Amino acid sequence: MSEPEFWPAPMDGVFTEVFIRSVNELELTDRWMTSFFRLSDTLPREKLCREFLAPYASSGLPVCVQLMGRDPELLAAGALRMLEAGGASIDLNFGCPVPRVVRGGAGGALLRERELMYRITEKTAAVAGKEKVSVKFRCGFASPDELEETAKGLLAAGAGKLFFHHRTVKELYAPVPERTDRFRRLLGLAGDTPVILNGDFTFEEAASAPERFGCAGVMLGRNFLRSPGILRRLRGLPGCSPERFFHTLVRNGLGGEALKGMKRWIFGAWDFPVPPEDPHGQ
Ligand SMILES: Cc1cc2nc3c(=O)[nH]c(=O)nc-3n(C[C@H](O)[C@H](O)[C@H](O)COP(=O)(O)O)c2cc1C
Repeated sequence: MSEPEFWPAPMDGVFTEVFIRSVNELELTDRWMTSFFRLSDTLPREKLCREFLAPYASSGLPVCVQLMGRDPELLAAGALRMLEAGGASIDLNFGCPVPRVVRGGAGGALLRERELMYRITEKTAAVAGKEKVSVKFRCGFASPDELEETAKGLLAAGAGKLFFHHRTVKELYAPVPERTDRFRRLLGLAGDTPVILNGDFTFEEAASAPERFGCAGVMLGRNFLRSPGILRRLRGLPGCSPERFFHTLVRNGLGGEALKGMKRWIFGAWDFPVPPEDPHGQ
């Protein structure tokens, strides 16, 4: 079995230029998936694609570009352009539960328009190559019973890798007691296609998941913010304290509301005196 992959989960709003550059500076990850790039009606110019990728690409690490939309031709053309602009691979967002996105028929809304979701995957895989196209999706829109049909359809449409969040769109971020069962169900359906599991992973769980579930890796979002060294530690490297990461963000120019938001993500509180930086903080 090849080395497990540990991914930072894309987080729109959190992945600002300062955030991305700070993560790169501290070498907190060895790979990126961008937060979603929305394609609604026009194909972005190559310059815009390069600008979007620039903070991630400054690291020299492989960057998987996540696209969101509902127009198969536009998404396929956008995928090609992002690859030409330096993206290493393309991910299609079929999971976002944010009401504004769902109302617009994109992200998680596509889980209830399966034929369209498959067409998007098929078209994108046809232009980009199956091995370069992944899908990030949830267990269903309204019910976890949708998983079998959705997973089979996505695989048949040419998804080369599956990033799987165990909740349905309707469940938003609620606790799900059947989480493990849902992971096992998906792995049973995926065959040889690599699966990256996502949703509420702690360090211990992420470290044991490849052996326990037979998955190719794990993706961590909110726990990466609370514990910025988590992906390093999973790769057997020394960690990084939240204080050190926070001070790097400040030094690199994070301020205002973005800073307050990051305080909340990292330390779980809106406003308080930040502890001094420990230069050796792990
Ligand atoms: C603030 C925020 C923004 C997010 N933005 C995206 C996004 O752009 N694309 C995406 O696929 N998922 C997005 N997600 C979902 C995460 O990538 C991840 O699937 C989810 O947080 C569950 O993982 P976790 O329990 O490890 O945080 C976002 C989540 C949060 C909290």
